[in-house]
Amino acid sequence: MSRFWSPFVHDLEPYVPGEQPKIANLIKLNTNENPYGPSPKVLEVLKQEINDDLRLYPDPDSSKLKQTIADYYDIDTQQVFVGNGSDEVLAHVFNALFQHDAPLLFPDITYSFYPVYCQLYQINYHAVPLTDQFEIDVTDYQQKNGGIIFPNPNAPTSRLLALDKIEQLLQHNAESVVVIDEAYIDFGGETAIPLVEKYPNLLVTQTLSKSRSLANLRIGFAIGHPDLIEALVRVKDSFNSYPMSNLAVNAGIEAFNDQEYFELTNRKIITSRKQLIQELVTLGFEVLPSVANFVFVTHPQHDAEELSAELRQQGVIVRHFQHNRISQFLRITIGTSEQNQQLAQALKKVI
Ligand SMILES: Cc1ncc(COP(=O)(O)O)c(C=O)c1O
Repeated sequence: MSRFWSPFVHDLEPYVPGEQPKIANLIKLNTNENPYGPSPKVLEVLKQEINDDLRLYPDPDSSKLKQTIADYYDIDTQQVFVGNGSDEVLAHVFNALFQHDAPLLFPDITYSFYPVYCQLYQINYHAVPLTDQFEIDVTDYQQKNGGIIFPNPNAPTSRLLALDKIEQLLQHNAESVVVIDEAYIDFGGETAIPLVEKYPNLLVTQTLSKSRSLANLRIGFAIGHPDLIEALVRVKDSFNSYPMSNLAVNAGIEAFNDQEYFELTNRKIITSRKQLIQELVTLGFEVLPSVANFVFVTHPQHDAEELSAELRQQGVIVRHFQHNRISQFLRITIGTSEQNQQLAQALKKVI
């Protein structure tokens, strides 16, 4: 705290990311990173990009990356926005599209950055309770609102909302922007991107941090009607003209080009997820159905926070949230088969 701060900064409660430990050799299953490295072709491109051109500012529009994403999803470049991680894209979404009189709606259990953006941009919101089974009931969103946002699959619950339900939501909320945050969609869900042609109020965001294993390069994007995209560009150009380096742009392009590697690593993660769920069920855990690269679990006989602390002592970090409704749950990122085995061994010791 300092007398030089504005009153606004005094009251800010920033987002707290999952721990990035300074100690080596921990099994890190707490921030939903990909256990495999990026495509070797991406690494090759990055090496080529280390040259004297780093003295130049990058293309402010990241047009080549936008073109690649547009081609990949068979849409127009005017329907694509790119930014420095989907967190930055989402921040611009809150600022550009959710500043309205009625409250923004999102689930009570969801990505904990949403309320932080609301505070930052002074947006009034209402947290809509998930059902007892941690599902989104779209009829709960048939109320006056200034926008709707949720991840699909939801985080940290890992549950998917089917596309027909998303259409129902869009039809009942034609006057608001509906944002589907698809950070984890590639691990088994079906993307809502084709629906943007039909619904001008739909915006879909995605990231290259998870299924394309590039969390460190910070590449995210949004897809929607050109009018929504223009609003994002206006905010971006009033904030930072050059959010993406040549390194990020060219690595991102190659990550989309190397479809084979993308499919191979995703398949491995999905197989590991099935194996891990089986192990956890055998150990007495209840596991919510997951189509993400993480599972959300609870154990009827063991306190989740204690389990998390005991696992850390065994060299495994997982994520525990203080939120009342989920204080008995742990979110565990899917690791390699080997890491999952090590997790299971550690759990056997502490349970
Ligand atoms: C639901 C959700 N959305 C968005 C993000 C942000 O991803 P990034 O900023 O790395 O693109 C995350 C990161 O964990 C997430 O869980």
